[in-house]
Amino acid sequence: MRKIYPTTIEAIEAPTLIRITDNFYVVAFRLMKLLPAHFILDRAQQAGLLDIGSIIIETSSGTFGLALAMICALRGYRLILVSDPVIDTSLKRRLEELGAHVEIVSGVEAYTGIQQVRLDRIKSLQEEHPGYFWPSQYDNPHNPEAYTPVAELLVEALGHVDCLIGTVGSGGSLCGTSNYLRMLFPQLTVAGVDTHGSVLFGLPDQPRLLRGLGNSLMPKNVAHMAFDEIHWVNAAEAFLATRILHRTHALYMGGTSGAAFLVSRWWAQQHPNATVVALLPDEGYRYQDTIYNDDWLRQHNALLTQLPEQPCLVSHPHEVNENWSYMLWKRRTYEQVLHYPFLGGQSRGQ
Ligand SMILES: Cc1ncc(COP(=O)(O)O)c(C=O)c1O
Repeated sequence: MRKIYPTTIEAIEAPTLIRITDNFYVVAFRLMKLLPAHFILDRAQQAGLLDIGSIIIETSSGTFGLALAMICALRGYRLILVSDPVIDTSLKRRLEELGAHVEIVSGVEAYTGIQQVRLDRIKSLQEEHPGYFWPSQYDNPHNPEAYTPVAELLVEALGHVDCLIGTVGSGGSLCGTSNYLRMLFPQLTVAGVDTHGSVLFGLPDQPRLLRGLGNSLMPKNVAHMAFDEIHWVNAAEAFLATRILHRTHALYMGGTSGAAFLVSRWWAQQHPNATVVALLPDEGYRYQDTIYNDDWLRQHNALLTQLPEQPCLVSHPHEVNENWSYMLWKRRTYEQVLHYPFLGGQSRGQ
């Protein structure tokens, strides 16, 4: 027991650094998204954009929405979350319990169009509520900046980091933490973990069972030139790795943590003299009936019995097969790797 935290937010956002093997550490978060939500809302408050009763409008069906709802409940802001039918019902209930108004958009058959529909609904809500604040986690530079304390923790506790591995959704956590670490360790290897069906690193947009990482739109906070390596992990591999993380290290985490664990454990084995750190974004309780339930996995054709021992190395995103694959991105832009600019939607729908 170390200290009394001023509020629930500070108590829950503080991660735990755990040694897994001699050269492999994980930063385990209960709810990583509290860091950017807290930082973004603090900056808005300091800029005079937020006061008790202010309206915050955001699109989220996951952990960023939950983090916003927790802070809004504590501070008396009103929160409108635009989400889609994939939101799980227990999360929706929890958000509503915290006072958020959750609006589910529908009317789109193709999954791929739903993020744009959500953004369009945000725009119309913003017209209805002038004076609203939009945290905009995909594009707001305060999202990556919020991770400075994570980098400071690593420097203070480990002295040196050779490789940082994390999942990529908005890009905030991995780009933010590595940006700071690279000022001290320019040679730092940054390995991003994405999934099949995500457009972030050049794959075609498709429905994804593994939620939280990946994207159908391109956030400004994904700084492609930060990445040395990109890994694509499929849902079944991530889910089994999540279970193995629990069985072997008693770490009860979500599916994106499993994906990060799979890649970082392999990376640490390949580089026994390097200090390797993985970011694990959230706890497992939300996934008790899904990732931790064999029946659900079977129903979704995502029950694996064995993990691949190593990823398949590809030289271009178009060569990625359906299993765990990786390529050396070599700190290039999207266009340098793909040979054409990103042609899909931006996160602001431009
Ligand atoms: C559970 C979970 N894991 C990982 C991520 C990816 O993190 P980031 O958005 O910082 O790239 C997210 C993003 O929402 C998430 O909800």
